[in-house]
Amino acid sequence: MHFDLRQLGLGSLCASLLSSFCGDQGPITHHPARPPSYPLAVRNPYLSTWMPADRVEQLPYADAQFWAGHDLGWSVIVRVDGQVYSLMGVPDLEASTIRPAAVRRAEFTSTHSLFDLTAGPVAFTLDFFSPVSPSNYLRQSLPFSYLTVQVRNVWGHDIQIYSDIDGRWTGREHRSVHELEDHDGLIFHRLSVEDAPQYAEESDMALWGEAILASRPADSSVLSALAGDPRVVRAAFVAHGDLSGEEVGWSSRSVAALAHDLGSVIGHASVNFAVGYERKKAINYLGDAYTGFYRAEYPTTHEALSFFLDDYEDARLESWDLDAELSAFATAAAGPKYADIVALSTRQAYGGIDLTIPHDSLATDGVLAFIKELSSDGNVNTIDVIMPAFPIYWVMDPDWIRLLLEPVMLYLDAGRWQLPYTIHDLGSHYPHAIGHDDQQAEPMPIEECGNLLILALAYVRATGDESWTHRYMDTFQQYADYLVDNSIDIANQLSSNDAAGPLPNETNLAIKAAVGIKAFGELSGKKHYSLIGDKHADLFFSQGLGTDEDQTHFVLEYPDMPTTWKIPYNLYPDVLLGLETFPNEAYTMGSEFFSTVRGEYGVALDHRQDWAKSDWNMWLAGTFETSTRNEFVDDLWAFMTNGKHNWPFSDRYVSTSAQGSEPGIPLLCRARPTVGGHFALLALKGPQSIQSLSTHKTKGTRGSKYNRFMDPASEL
Ligand SMILES: *[C@@H]1O[C@H](CO)[C@@H](O)[C@H](O)[C@H]1NC(C)=O
Repeated sequence: MHFDLRQLGLGSLCASLLSSFCGDQGPITHHPARPPSYPLAVRNPYLSTWMPADRVEQLPYADAQFWAGHDLGWSVIVRVDGQVYSLMGVPDLEASTIRPAAVRRAEFTSTHSLFDLTAGPVAFTLDFFSPVSPSNYLRQSLPFSYLTVQVRNVWGHDIQIYSDIDGRWTGREHRSVHELEDHDGLIFHRLSVEDAPQYAEESDMALWGEAILASRPADSSVLSALAGDPRVVRAAFVAHGDLSGEEVGWSSRSVAALAHDLGSVIGHASVNFAVGYERKKAINYLGDAYTGFYRAEYPTTHEALSFFLDDYEDARLESWDLDAELSAFATAAAGPKYADIVALSTRQAYGGIDLTIPHDSLATDGVLAFIKELSSDGNVNTIDVIMPAFPIYWVMDPDWIRLLLEPVMLYLDAGRWQLPYTIHDLGSHYPHAIGHDDQQAEPMPIEECGNLLILALAYVRATGDESWTHRYMDTFQQYADYLVDNSIDIANQLSSNDAAGPLPNETNLAIKAAVGIKAFGELSGKKHYSLIGDKHADLFFSQGLGTDEDQTHFVLEYPDMPTTWKIPYNLYPDVLLGLETFPNEAYTMGSEFFSTVRGEYGVALDHRQDWAKSDWNMWLAGTFETSTRNEFVDDLWAFMTNGKHNWPFSDRYVSTSAQGSEPGIPLLCRARPTVGGHFALLALKGPQSIQSLSTHKTKGTRGSKYNRFMDPASEL
């Protein structure tokens, strides 16, 4: 439950008990902009913890939140010369002697969320750091995130720093159990659900793993641990500045706490906590358990945690370079607002993915990536989720296109999917990547055939590796043939935007098919497919089957539906991959048309809807010249920063009040990895354009045997 201070009369509380502290609370500044929600620990579908921006002003009282919206207890408390202050997460503060620190500033980068607070005479920074390091499989796959608590410019104050998490991190707090481990000073709490069913979720949280809070003594700190009733545990910290008291029993409302006693601090000091959620059996892939990639080197939790804490300095240096480089590149690509959009999207895009290897063999040459369709339905490796997200892989590390498609290709190659078009996903619900032997996947024939062929070519173009696609060429050809036969007179069917319902003869699908057929021509070297793709494009654009008569825009449906429209975002891969399936005029007409249908927060998906898709809008923007592109960026930024909502970045929102709805409000979609599509404008600068990701690689994480397709020249 969120503790709403306004309802509880914060005004009178301030007036009486806490006047000097509340009065100290100036307006908070958000840098570089106010997001809807700050990522705190966002690394995979089950480690996705956020701080809604509308709680930041009351951060000392505020619960964190799982991506789906349930509150999670996560507190940070400090003690300065014997006086205790909450920096985060103590809802019942006024009932204790703990005072709220004053929140000054909040900031996000692509990998960090930072909060500056003042606790009496000392300034603290909370640095929530979730590494994004796709080329470093070890670092990327660890299911932990850093919380660093820093003090600066301190002159002789006595300081202790405390953090706890509660049973809600297990997904079923009333059945939670607790264990404490100590390995040569590395201390960690493990919280799990008693008799948890394997691979089971409850309200999108995993039940079968373990929530972790870990730390190790910093330079001169003394680390202690305690779990139990929060009043008892926090009271021990308040009284003594450490937790070396009697172990109290674990119950459903308990917390698991760690505290560092830094003693007298002069200058700067910081302590690191690791928070995480580990599933040893992470994914059920066709009946075989898959586990995190990191377990090949660090099979036990304490080894993995020890490495994670050791790796902090390297990970931090890499992240600073990445943040700076992404910001500079994105600003150069489409301005500072675009850089904000990209920064807020980065952790979320990778936070939908698990990077895994077989649980039994721990063989790293079996590495596969799994992605969850968060919030819409939980499907596994949905092709039309990988598709919108792929610009971020293209930019950061295009091998991930293969890593995400490979589990699907192996399944298709085994002949277990018998329909003539590409499967929609690899399982109805994460983490069950068990295919659809009953042939009952959501049917999106043209959509997924086109997507797969385009993704395959994107992989080849970005990596130069043809061996992977070569292996599956027969399968690709089958889908190219399906498109050749079925993509002019298109049967009634869904496209990716299934919320909009099915249609026959949807122009945007016909565009996707034309580009997909051409992509297969390029992929296979079979020229006649390229010619067929060009012929389809000619029919839909030059001969006008897919446009209105004056060629001002593509129509939603053909033939003879001139007043309809839908954003033709499927043109984007044609631009990115330089396929030239469609002539330039096919893109330029949109530049003029879409200003005429622009709502308060941009352009809707099609003429029937009042909602927009942020990923597809960034794709479409990539087909325009600069001024129209900037309008699309401005509109998405306006939605992201309007302060009217507090979910993780939503890729679907009301863009116009034309149908009577409040504009700028998100709809259904939370925390989806499809925000990788926001990288579409950056992707136009070229594949693998982020250099910082290659400069801080650690030993054995690249160029070893598991990376079968890498260029040997780049081996360390
Ligand atoms: C779809 O378009 C084709 C080609 O113009 C046309 O022959 C067919 O009748 C259309 N189908 C529907 C359902 O309108």
